[in-house]
Amino acid sequence: MLLKSVKSWMLLVLVVLTQQVYATEGMWLPQLLSNLNEKEMKGMGMKISASDIYNINKGSLKDAIVSFGGFCTAEVISSQGLLLTNHHCGYDAIQKHSSLEHNYLDNGFWARTAAEELPNPGLTATFIVRIDDITKAATQNVKAGMTEKERQSVIDKQLAIIKKEVKKESWQDVMIKPFFEGNKYYLFVTETYKDVRLVGAPPSSIGKFGSDTDNWVWPRHTGDFSMFRIYAGKDGKPAPYSQDNVPLKPKYFLPISMKGVKKDDFTMVMGFPGRTTEYLPSEAVKQTVEVLDFSKVEMRDAALKIWDGYMRKNEQIKIQYAAKYASTANAWKKWQGEMLGVKKTDGIAKKQRYEANYNQLLNANPALKQQYAGVLDTLNELYIKINPYAQARDYYNELVKNTEILTAVDKLIALADDAESQGAGQYNTLRDKFMESMKAFYQNYNAGVDKDVFISLMDIYAAKVPANFRSARFNSSWASFTDSRKLADQVYATSNLTSYDKLAAVMQQPQQAALATLAKDPAVQLAIVLREGFREKVAPTLNALQLDINNRQRTYMQAQMDVFAGKKNFYPDANSTLRVTYGKVDGYSPADGVQYDYYTWLDGVMEKYIPGDYEFDVPAKLIELYKNKDYGKYGVNGKMPVCFIASNHTTGGNSGSPALNANGQLIGLNFDRTWEGTMSDINYDPSICRNIMVDIRYVLFIVDKFAGCKRLVDEMKLVN
Ligand code: ARG
Ligand code: ASP
Repeated sequence: MLLKSVKSWMLLVLVVLTQQVYATEGMWLPQLLSNLNEKEMKGMGMKISASDIYNINKGSLKDAIVSFGGFCTAEVISSQGLLLTNHHCGYDAIQKHSSLEHNYLDNGFWARTAAEELPNPGLTATFIVRIDDITKAATQNVKAGMTEKERQSVIDKQLAIIKKEVKKESWQDVMIKPFFEGNKYYLFVTETYKDVRLVGAPPSSIGKFGSDTDNWVWPRHTGDFSMFRIYAGKDGKPAPYSQDNVPLKPKYFLPISMKGVKKDDFTMVMGFPGRTTEYLPSEAVKQTVEVLDFSKVEMRDAALKIWDGYMRKNEQIKIQYAAKYASTANAWKKWQGEMLGVKKTDGIAKKQRYEANYNQLLNANPALKQQYAGVLDTLNELYIKINPYAQARDYYNELVKNTEILTAVDKLIALADDAESQGAGQYNTLRDKFMESMKAFYQNYNAGVDKDVFISLMDIYAAKVPANFRSARFNSSWASFTDSRKLADQVYATSNLTSYDKLAAVMQQPQQAALATLAKDPAVQLAIVLREGFREKVAPTLNALQLDINNRQRTYMQAQMDVFAGKKNFYPDANSTLRVTYGKVDGYSPADGVQYDYYTWLDGVMEKYIPGDYEFDVPAKLIELYKNKDYGKYGVNGKMPVCFIASNHTTGGNSGSPALNANGQLIGLNFDRTWEGTMSDINYDPSICRNIMVDIRYVLFIVDKFAGCKRLVDEMKLVN
């Protein structure tokens, strides 16, 4: 008996120890690694040191990583400023250069010489020069008892002073961001290059292989990469586009490992994750997955089903709705994975246990108890209070976002508002710009499709949003229609917003006449009545509660850090700043009886191949290379690796981030997460949270053997 309990005690210690070794949660600030993470990273197998990752005195890994256009990450992989990022990150740029004669999305694009590299006005690459902790200076005038508004105003005044006085070169910029819900402030000195040219992209049948069906899914077989190049002025400094610009000589670029990875190998991902909320109380997690995700998915289910039905039957509609479908489905699928993952890992109970632990420690410490008494309970209560308002907001937002005629009215209202605020003289310019954007809008618009979406979503809105959260005018007009089909018939038969030509005819009239006509438009009237409901019945309470929540969330954040001081390291939620995350190569079990491997191969591409399919077609050249096993130096024992997964904690914005091995060499390119693990934004769990990367050898194989663009591989530094 005693032996048995000693044994189980030892087992427990072992479990706790291995859990410590595998503490892969966290998006860490690169300048704090030496204090917080270096020991653990080395324990997990890292061979380099924290100062090789972030160093302001010599070139380090951070000098090879850029924020790509502010929405993705990219990395420098040659001494000539060559950039690697995802195909889905370069997508807009590739699309803009595409035409019927040169369909780079379908056929790929490869600049055979530097002269063929294509400029992309507006696309930027931003390096982080230095990160400073400015919390003290930023918050020095904050006094206890200040309201949220007063507090923000004294901080903003300080930030303005700090920004003005910061030491930096003339071509550098400064950015300041709050961390830990505003408990800390960091300043970033940055360098933004504005001449970023497209160098290469595989065809979508490689770069987007599997498309929406495989999105967020493992096993995955997508070669999700594209290449760009940073150009600088002759002095090496950022410069606007010019033919005379030269390829950037970077402070550092990533060497590329040809060795691949195996199970349990250390991996690290550096990049610019966008947004996470890891420190919410349990009621907020519950609300996210049980109420808000559910409502948003419900609305998008309905819209996507209708779009899909039309897209399958009609080629024209397929082209018009493909991009809308992809972006709407991306979040829709992610939310479903989030609900599933939290359920599967019992995420709410996990939060509740964490809170019980927090309360126990808090109550054992009189000073902290006095300082933070009731903070967590109040926060949980506030989330319960805000719940119906947040749900009504999400139903309303999804209704307007997915019913295109309502989106069009929103744009129209924005035009009217702008015209009013900018003065009568500006109207014609504003209107022309508006009509320009509406031209693009209607190019991808089909009123019949939209009418069906309208019917479906209005029914859900009317059924799910209680009458006291809708405007009185909506309630009375809704009561006069027996169902949404009758309302839709009226709106779509008479509205001027169902086509570009009808709208253009109205907008040709002088400002007052045009606005008077539109004010009588049934789509406009309905949109205004819906908006009124949100503005008057939902927003006031929602916003007041949210302000209160934000304030207390900051206190709760500090409370967690104080209560668990010495027991747990904290990382700040993602906020589009440079972070390091690390983990291990490993498969996972998505369901009872199912075990996923951590690698996929070109064989899997061929297994999924459906000739002519828009998601699963495979280019003839790739099939030929596969048949001949013509993999050059990139294959492994006659097989071609494609993707792999690991337990790095990533989120949206990490797309295009480099995956690095223990030596800081490039082994892959991050582009997605597994479906069951998308909950990592609110509840990271090492058992099922995995990031998906494309193997760098597949990238090189496509560039060299498939595209024959060896000049690019030649400028890289490959290590065996
Ligand atoms: N799920 C990935 C992300 O959130 C990739 C999205 C692009 N791919 C797609 N098939 N829509 O960005
Ligand atoms: N696909 C995401 C991105 O584009 C990455 C993720 O959410 O894991 O940033």
